[in-house]
Amino acid sequence: MKKELVFSGVQPTGNLHLGNYLGALKNFVSLQKSKNCLYCVVDLHAITTFQNPKELNSNILETTAGFLASGLDPNKSIIFNQSSVSGHAELAWILNCVCRMGWLNRMTQFKDKAGKDKEKASVGLYIYPNLMAADILLYKATHVPVGADQKQHLELSRDIAQKFNKDFNHKDFFPLPKPLIQKNISRVMSLRDGTKKMSKSEESDYSRINLKDSSDEIVKKIKKAKTDADPITENIKDYENRPEAYNLLSIYSDLSDQKIETTIKEFLGKDFSSLKAKLSEILVETISPIGKDIDKLMKDKKHLEDVLKKGKQKASIIAEENLKKIREIVGFV
Ligand code: AMP
Ligand code: TRP
Repeated sequence: MKKELVFSGVQPTGNLHLGNYLGALKNFVSLQKSKNCLYCVVDLHAITTFQNPKELNSNILETTAGFLASGLDPNKSIIFNQSSVSGHAELAWILNCVCRMGWLNRMTQFKDKAGKDKEKASVGLYIYPNLMAADILLYKATHVPVGADQKQHLELSRDIAQKFNKDFNHKDFFPLPKPLIQKNISRVMSLRDGTKKMSKSEESDYSRINLKDSSDEIVKKIKKAKTDADPITENIKDYENRPEAYNLLSIYSDLSDQKIETTIKEFLGKDFSSLKAKLSEILVETISPIGKDIDKLMKDKKHLEDVLKKGKQKASIIAEENLKKIREIVGFV
């Protein structure tokens, strides 16, 4: 049997939020109990849109702090930043030559992020998915915990791995990585618009719960969160046209580690103010300690830098070993 290895990445582009926590970080933490895991602060991905260097520097450390505060343990998982292991960029180049333009042209995240004026997007943003494939394949990772928004990129990584194995006649060299997507809540939606995902880049801060929000801010944001006038009803199908209601029920269910059906039973017939009160409570209980821990960890930057440095050393050993073989397969001397 092939060795199982978990890899995932988070961009250091500012506020970590509830979507990152429920869609990714929470899963990262539970996986480190039973599997070998690498968790990467993907700073090379971050610069596909311009980042102020000072802010980037601080955001790399803050994302690392967010990993630790969420429960990642550097003695169990390899925690490092992408730019510190040059193999990511090297393999990305090779994969740029494997991936087809047509495959990249289908990527919906590029279309969303580039917006109307594609000509002005960086070339890095266009080939972003190839760098993501390189991150995963550099370690021959088999499992990738991500939110649902990354599913298409994961499929592309599998296609690239398959084409590399076929083109170079090395069947099974790269394993085909499997996405691990949370079943209960694969996509946390905006608190202002249940059809849009909760995101760092959304203008209104009321659309998301940041891991660093104070208890007061959390309560205020949940109070203001959009809902509808109907009470909580039993049939799950009723929620197809009630995205905001469904989102709040899902968030509450995930935080309480219970099925959405159980949550619906708990609040059946009540209006949203009772759900909101309980939701605020559990959010404050779960998120506030993480936020406080991030602030505390950010006071000792040296410690965070040490964590990244140790992670880099461990990651580099695996990366170098695989790269040696990759260079040989491609034919480099
Ligand atoms: P990013 O901040 O874009 O680097 O995302 C880091 C991780 O969080 C990825 O696995 C994303 O899929 C996940 N993620 C980001 N936003 C959400 C969301 N609103 N719901 C669920 N997962 C999310
Ligand atoms: N593209 C991912 C995101 O925006 C971040 C990422 C980069 C990633 N490399 C990765 C996720 C490798 C999983 C595996 O969320």
